[in-house]
Amino acid sequence: MKTILITGGAGFMGSNFVRYLLKKYPDYKLIVLDALTYAGCMENVPRVPNVRFWFGNVRNAELVDTLISQCDVVVHFAAETHVTRSIYDNLLFFETDVLGTQCIANAVLKNNSNIERFIHISTSEVYGAARFDVMDEEHPLMPASPYASAKAGADRLVYSYWHTYGIPAVIIRPFNNYGPYQHLEKAVPRFITSCILNEPINIHGDGKMSRDWLFVEDLCNALDLALQGDINELKGEVINVGTGKSIEIGTLAEMIVDLMGSSRSLLRYVGDRPGQVMRHRSSTEKAQKLLEWHYSVPIEEGLKRSIDWYKKNHSWWEKQLWMRSVPIITKDGKIEEH
Ligand SMILES: NC(=O)c1ccc[n+]([C@@H]2O[C@H](COP(=O)([O-])OP(=O)(O)OC[C@H]3O[C@@H](n4cnc5c(N)ncnc54)[C@H](O)[C@@H]3O)[C@@H](O)[C@H]2O)c1
Repeated sequence: MKTILITGGAGFMGSNFVRYLLKKYPDYKLIVLDALTYAGCMENVPRVPNVRFWFGNVRNAELVDTLISQCDVVVHFAAETHVTRSIYDNLLFFETDVLGTQCIANAVLKNNSNIERFIHISTSEVYGAARFDVMDEEHPLMPASPYASAKAGADRLVYSYWHTYGIPAVIIRPFNNYGPYQHLEKAVPRFITSCILNEPINIHGDGKMSRDWLFVEDLCNALDLALQGDINELKGEVINVGTGKSIEIGTLAEMIVDLMGSSRSLLRYVGDRPGQVMRHRSSTEKAQKLLEWHYSVPIEEGLKRSIDWYKKNHSWWEKQLWMRSVPIITKDGKIEEH
């Protein structure tokens, strides 16, 4: 029996984790704190007695403190998350991702006596371009976009609170997640819904940049292990969560087009995105050693399950269609929809 605060629980990964916990631990009490920005929505949050929803901002210190004082565990997902949007307007990224995390970490510190663990959701984007292939947790942090730098600030802030004050923090760095309930601004749902609508699929640059794609259910599994594992072994640790395999974005788009029986002529190559990083592939050793975790959903299966979900949930995603692209100004001053 635990009471868990899940910030950002109305977004993609947070709401998948809420559903995962509800199914596996029907006794747990979950408190979801979410500001319902454009990225979060109430449809994502199950309306059941075990889930208490709080509409609010992670920067509201008093609210955060009140909620954390009632919990045993905090899992902090809330953030501004879209790389391209951070190029267009980055203020909120630093406010939410850095200062919001400071607010959460301060409340965890204040309530140290009742908080058993604080799981901070960081990202592989903090590494920037790969200095070496198969990136482990010792890879230098060279964030290459305002989003990535805000997340790197939050990641190191949490680490410093563990180092200075001994808060029971575990830092998880997921690689690229995909699956049901992901906003249409992100690559996989954008490609799938473009196929459903028979519309062109924009691919940045030459499509050769590669990512380590992880089905969200596998992430939930890893977080569950971080929730249940011995906190004395986990606190202060940074753990990558990825598959150890990478696929180029152009290849991924072709896989989706083929799985959906659409034409490859839908693929359209546009200018590259500023702040792009070429290669990302996770080392899986530490997650294996500390969490005994390894991914289990192969990419073809994860894509099929995602395709199936988007085919069945038009009404969920149709209202996001206008947000599938973001206007950005390229290095040579051109305005492009990305
Ligand atoms: N999606 C990925 O591939 C990925 C990969 C690695 C790490 N991450 C990290 O995982 C976390 C969740 O990502 P996601 O893809 O689910 O994001 P998302 O954009 O789908 O959801 C973010 C949620 O946070 C909420 N939120 C935003 N600002 C808030 C604020 N000030 N106060 C309270 N709530 C606020 C939003 O309303 C939304 O519900 C983020 O920290 C992100 O950096 C995501």
